Amino acid sequence: MPYAHVVGWGKYAPPKILTNAELSRTVDTNDEWIVTRTGIHERRIAGPKDTAATMGFAAAREALDVAGILPTDVDLIICATATPEYIFPATACVIQDMLGAVKAGAFDLSAGCAGFMYALSLGSQVIQAGAHRVVLIIGSETLSRITNWSDRGTCILFGDGAGAVVLQASDQPGGVLSSLVRADGSGGEMLIVPAGGSHQPASVQTVREGLHYIQMNGREVFRFATRVVDRAAREVVEKAGLTLDDIQLFVPHQANLRIIQAAARSLDIPEERIFVNLEKYGNTSSASIPMALCEAVACGRLHPGDRVVLVGFGAGLTWAAAAVQWGAPPERKPSRMRRAIRAAIYPVAAARSRAVRVLRHVEARLFGSPSPKSVDEDGDTKKK
Ligand code: ACO
Repeated sequence: MPYAHVVGWGKYAPPKILTNAELSRTVDTNDEWIVTRTGIHERRIAGPKDTAATMGFAAAREALDVAGILPTDVDLIICATATPEYIFPATACVIQDMLGAVKAGAFDLSAGCAGFMYALSLGSQVIQAGAHRVVLIIGSETLSRITNWSDRGTCILFGDGAGAVVLQASDQPGGVLSSLVRADGSGGEMLIVPAGGSHQPASVQTVREGLHYIQMNGREVFRFATRVVDRAAREVVEKAGLTLDDIQLFVPHQANLRIIQAAARSLDIPEERIFVNLEKYGNTSSASIPMALCEAVACGRLHPGDRVVLVGFGAGLTWAAAAVQWGAPPERKPSRMRRAIRAAIYPVAAARSRAVRVLRHVEARLFGSPSPKSVDEDGDTKKK
């Protein structure tokens, strides 16, 4: 059975910073309350040109660069997001086109803040089953666009950003050692965007009532999170045949420092073995764990060969975890040819995408809409 190794990682944080002090000028809150209740000092806010796809693309591109893998070698793209570009097409398909990943399948995965962990679990199993060799997992969120900026109970928590990892098949033991995914749909209303889906389609009334914004029962979500993080971490460690002492680093979903501290206490692990960066980004939902992993590597807290436990939880309610032996990017330096291909590949992908759109338009003008008689058995349009 092949192993699913993490061979690349990347992140994107929009440059605009929103501090607690700035927030307290628009809602009735203050820096001291936010810091003591959540640990968050500031968060990033997507600019007018940033979307879940553009940010996911930036993170994916960096992850592929670290892995030394071309987009044309990617077999599958899974984008975990609660704030997709559209209801459809999937954000993953928009990213697939931007990357020029012409051989890849692509779909979105919705599991709230546990989305990235669901995608990692699924992606690793697709590789272990031998179905694919290279899987790109992305978490990308523009939560600022569904946040009610006059609701002080939620607007202090969330931020925007994206993170990605590349999983690659290998015969060497390591990579994703174990994983689990769980859900409890009975708690769905605790964290919900009530309107905009088929249950309550968007209307003037739903917008007037602010039903397209995040609504949350903070205390209940807090209680749920403190219960599941400990349980999920223990379960994946045991499933991997390890003990908590074998784990060098824990990277939990970055929702609230008090949830993370409670997990550290119940797992009986020192806080130095837990990675926290929520003070800079707030809760970025599906993006929080891959962004944290990138920063853990960058600041020397996570090294090749280290065993790391990741735990996500969120809307659904959902939770998911994995024990991972961290990988290393390839040692070989890319050849000059490969470097040249890498530099050219994204402009070429953009040009290809434009050319395909134009061709589709020309084909439609020349041949009109396909009637049953004008389409052959393979679905190709017959020339008139
Ligand atoms: N500034 C000042 N006061 C506030 C603020 C604020 N921003 N927000 C709430 N308060 C007030 C409340 O009105 C309340 O006042 P009252 O006692 O007079 O009624 C008081 O502070 C305490 O409110 P609580 O809601 O009990 O505060 P709590 O300590 O529970 O903290 C928080 C609230 C931070 C939201 C916490 O419950 C939490 O972090 N919950 C988990 C949220 C979370 O992680 N969600 C994401 C999950 S992942 C996903 O899928 C998106």
